[in-house]
Amino acid sequence: MIAIGSDHGGFALKSEIIKHLEARGLSYRDFGTYTEASCDYPDFGRAVAKAVASGEYERGIIICGTGIGISITANKVRGIRAALCGDCFSAEACREHNDANILALGARVIGPGLALKIVDTFLDTPFSGDERHVRRISKIEE
Ligand code: RB5
Repeated sequence: MIAIGSDHGGFALKSEIIKHLEARGLSYRDFGTYTEASCDYPDFGRAVAKAVASGEYERGIIICGTGIGISITANKVRGIRAALCGDCFSAEACREHNDANILALGARVIGPGLALKIVDTFLDTPFSGDERHVRRISKIEE
């Protein structure tokens, strides 16, 4: 189950991603925002991060204009490893090396075509489980 959320800057891209998740038959919950009206990205970054940290949702996807504010917010929640990605290499590495549990995207930075490829890479790449990566992630949690 995927938790997804955005501010107004990420609303249009979030709608594209939701259509894509539905086409893939993946279940999700949209934590808002639900309109283009101006709002505050921390409200939605926090809601998605809490949902993932609770264990109820396996992964999260968060979107704002740059992806920066919303990823900073999500990373304040214990247990969250949110990765801001603008390319598929980073999306693959954040899963293999960092076991990232939230993907952050900047809707004013990348187009929808690349964003969907990044989403697929993030969702389809497993954590490597290598001892050195497990050790490093443990140090983050400490
Ligand atoms: C909203 O205008 C914008 O500041 C927000 O979407 C995001 O880019 C913040 O980091």
